[in-house]
Amino acid sequence: MFNVYPINPVTIARAEGSTVWDENGTEYLDLYGGHAVISIGHTHPHYVKRITEQLAKIGFYSNSVEMPLQRELAGLLGEISGKADYQLFLCNSGAEANENALKLASFHNGRRKIIAFKGAFHGRTSLAVSATDNRKIVAPVNETDNVVFLPFNDVDALEQAFDEYGKEVSSVIVEGIQGVGGIRVASDEFLKKIRGLTSAYGAVFIADSVQCGYGRSGRFYSHDHADVQADIYSMAKGMGNGFPIGAISISPAIKPWFGMLGTTFGGNHLACAAALAVLEVVKEEGLMARAEQIGNYLMTELRKFPVIRDVRGRGLMIGIELPEELGPVRRDLLTKNRIFTGEAKPNIIRLLPALTLTRDQADRFLEALDERLKDY
Ligand SMILES: Cc1ncc(COP(=O)(O)O)c(C=O)c1O
Repeated sequence: MFNVYPINPVTIARAEGSTVWDENGTEYLDLYGGHAVISIGHTHPHYVKRITEQLAKIGFYSNSVEMPLQRELAGLLGEISGKADYQLFLCNSGAEANENALKLASFHNGRRKIIAFKGAFHGRTSLAVSATDNRKIVAPVNETDNVVFLPFNDVDALEQAFDEYGKEVSSVIVEGIQGVGGIRVASDEFLKKIRGLTSAYGAVFIADSVQCGYGRSGRFYSHDHADVQADIYSMAKGMGNGFPIGAISISPAIKPWFGMLGTTFGGNHLACAAALAVLEVVKEEGLMARAEQIGNYLMTELRKFPVIRDVRGRGLMIGIELPEELGPVRRDLLTKNRIFTGEAKPNIIRLLPALTLTRDQADRFLEALDERLKDY
């Protein structure tokens, strides 16, 4: 293996809901879900059934035949996201979704310049842009002349940029809640300003919902909290609950033509079955409301810990900023309390659990955190 991932010395052998077991049968609480991927819980019975039944019929055929499953998915996504008139293009990952969004914007308005924001992460392909200022990213992907990185949540900087070169801007891409960049919520004012300026200058508003979307924030897209409509929403992670699938949802104002975008694997039968199962469970079990409720509970309780510097996020996308010297708490939660969490920076714990997380599981985490913080 090309050694690029720091590995926890745990082999997961079985999983159910927010619980996973290692090969020795030791139980862990999973509050990370493989980077926000596990949205409806591990091995949800409806999900397993739908994929298994689909696999027994047909797993793959290319995008050259009628695909009723894709239409069904487009319909249900449109309904649940409240954007029934938007068009769907399916691909395989978050970076690919953003790459297609940026490309589509450029086809649409014939321009090249992209505005992104400091701390953003949009993927690792040549078009997708990354500006996480907490990581040393030196690959050339973020060095192109066409990408400008402005300060996040800075309305004045945005206005100034549009004053200077607004007519050259093809798209503005923004996460509703920056994930890799440290769980930073975009302000309503900021998102509204992006909407206003992109509309005024004929630029495309791309809402990167790869990590913060799919109901995790309590609304389908986290940008919805600001009451704005983007032109393109990109999504992936929670969309397939572990089956690789990504997509962009595209405003009816952007018109397609044959050959404009394309993919080999995107929208295959198995991926569609997985994505449909996820949406059906989100709807049936009211998971968006639940994410908001359990998320609010967690954040309220976390804010009561005097030692925690900041608690940020929405719904079940939560960042817990600790003083720098408490960085090892995250590791201790895993080794001593058997709880998986993620990190945004060494002192920021990132919680991205399944939207099915129960109150008891939230309490288990709060008790464990209390115990660990007393060690320091
Ligand atoms: C906001 C955001 N956009 C895009 C991506 C890239 O997604 P993928 O790893 O599926 O290519 C990520 C991944 O972490 C992300 O958090």
